[in-house]
Amino acid sequence: MCGIVGYIGYREAYPILIGGLRRLEYRGYDSAGVAVLNGHLQVYKKKGKVADLEQHVGPQPPEGFIGIGHTRWATHGEPNDINAHPHLSASGKFVLIHNGIIENYAALKQELSSKGYTFASDTDTEVLVQLIEYLYEHHQVPAEEAVRMALDKVVGAYGIVLLCKDEPGQLIAARKSSPIVIGIGQGEYIVASDATPIVQYTKDVVYLNDGEIAILTAHSHTIKTLGNVIQTPELQRLDLELEALEKGGYPHFMLKEIFEQPRSIAESMRGRIDPEKEEVWLGGLVDVREQLRAAKRFIFVACGTSWHAGLVGEYLFESYARIPVEVEYASEFRYRDPIITPEDVVIAISQSGETADTLAAVEIAREKGALVLGVVNAVGSSIARATHAGVYIHAGPEIGVASTKAFTSQVTVLTLMAHYLADLKGTATPGLRHSLRELQQIPEKVKSILDTNDKIVEIAHTFKDASNFLYLGRGFNFPVALEGALKLKEISYIHAEGYPAAEMKHGPIALIDEHMPVVFLATKDKSYEKIISNIDQVVSRKGSVIAVVSEGDTLIRELADWVIEIPHTDDSLLPLLTCIPLQLLAYHIALMRGCNVDQPRNLAKSVTVE
Ligand code: G6P
Repeated sequence: MCGIVGYIGYREAYPILIGGLRRLEYRGYDSAGVAVLNGHLQVYKKKGKVADLEQHVGPQPPEGFIGIGHTRWATHGEPNDINAHPHLSASGKFVLIHNGIIENYAALKQELSSKGYTFASDTDTEVLVQLIEYLYEHHQVPAEEAVRMALDKVVGAYGIVLLCKDEPGQLIAARKSSPIVIGIGQGEYIVASDATPIVQYTKDVVYLNDGEIAILTAHSHTIKTLGNVIQTPELQRLDLELEALEKGGYPHFMLKEIFEQPRSIAESMRGRIDPEKEEVWLGGLVDVREQLRAAKRFIFVACGTSWHAGLVGEYLFESYARIPVEVEYASEFRYRDPIITPEDVVIAISQSGETADTLAAVEIAREKGALVLGVVNAVGSSIARATHAGVYIHAGPEIGVASTKAFTSQVTVLTLMAHYLADLKGTATPGLRHSLRELQQIPEKVKSILDTNDKIVEIAHTFKDASNFLYLGRGFNFPVALEGALKLKEISYIHAEGYPAAEMKHGPIALIDEHMPVVFLATKDKSYEKIISNIDQVVSRKGSVIAVVSEGDTLIRELADWVIEIPHTDDSLLPLLTCIPLQLLAYHIALMRGCNVDQPRNLAKSVTVE
């Protein structure tokens, strides 16, 4: 996915655009570019980071009070200067930035080529800007109408912002399946793909809806449908503080977000547990209580780390509420004609609320008549809006590309939902009441695990040059093994696999020798005895063992090369604790290998394309 920002108002646009791009860089960092309009269009673009763009622009930045900027995660065409946005039309009258994919770009390109258009880049975006120009010239219509006509021909997803040299006092933005937020200031507007570049200027925003186009001048905003019907926009107030977007003294966002977890987990629970009745209250689910009570099956759809949270959710829902659960990769679910009935409840889990596959899965589930719920972090995001109801996780903005605090907040909310469901279905036991009390102790326990950071630095130092890693866990710790392996490969580029510990015998054991570090999640839970035999099997094949164990464990200390102790808790809450040392381990190893922890290669924070 890409980051887009546009400005129109009374200030110099360039510094606002660059500042905005720095905030948006977590969304994509293959290349960046800006265009500023001041009589003529001044366009600068560069492969690499926003800092490379700034260097390319040099000490005399373009001047002007209207402009657009883009930071890219390549989909069409390799990341290079030419494919970077903004893209100019042939005559240089229009300049466009785009997030999303124009699926029929090849057919449109062919049509335009037959009319004599040539293309400098490999991008679908250039095709769109040429199409707009063609319609503008051919039909002699205002720029706004040319944009509406072009978007009518487009199949795919887009969030766009564009400028037209002939109509210099306006900025045009439009959206379909790719977010656009308009920040409304005094005599100025900032439009962006998320609120992060906006919050320092204004907290009053309008989220564009799918199929809407916005025409912004310095003093007015008009929102229309693509069919040219004027809309009354809903003004919203951002619940976001600037500090949440800063590193706050930490060297990386990822480390800040790992250390924020005692607070973010507490935020996910805030106001949702009635301590006297020992019950969970989820305002977002009240209206669908009866459908939840009657549900025959739950299906989680998600991608990446959110999918791992879904796996924990499966274990939680099944054990607390005794109801069947399936966990699906959203990308598989959407393409295999899944059997869904109105008695199913589909729960989409997504940090960003913008992941294209998860959004498509939501739409399919709705079409098939299921109740669709969202477990989302980004308030007002596409998935949050496309679902019937849901529970926000309230983790606060997550900027590090590798998800950490969103995972623990997702698991926290899924735990609350499992309690809520157990109460609705009458499956709650005294044991569950105890778990709910325990859940409230989790933030303090996470804090104590964070205090073991120095030990984890030592372990990281020992294993930083490994080429492979294996992560093993059972029961509630199995999804954590997957998540631990994902964290390591995402940011350190070490190959790592997560496995259910017992499955090790059916394949991965063949990989074990003195060069294979194996991380065991070996807490004192139901599978404790069994996991000890799995550790034995690794030790006898000379693998190095790093074990996450329960406080005071002496048995595993004798077997393992390294142990990391965590406080005791209920089995079902273990993922909230055992994932913390694995996040830290991945972070420190990546750092020691000189990797860019916050912006790992080839990845993007949210994947808004297929
Ligand atoms: C990308 C991110 C992951 C994230 C996944 C799902 O791959 O790099 O960190 O888990 O997308 O994103 P979502 O926003 O839907 O949770």
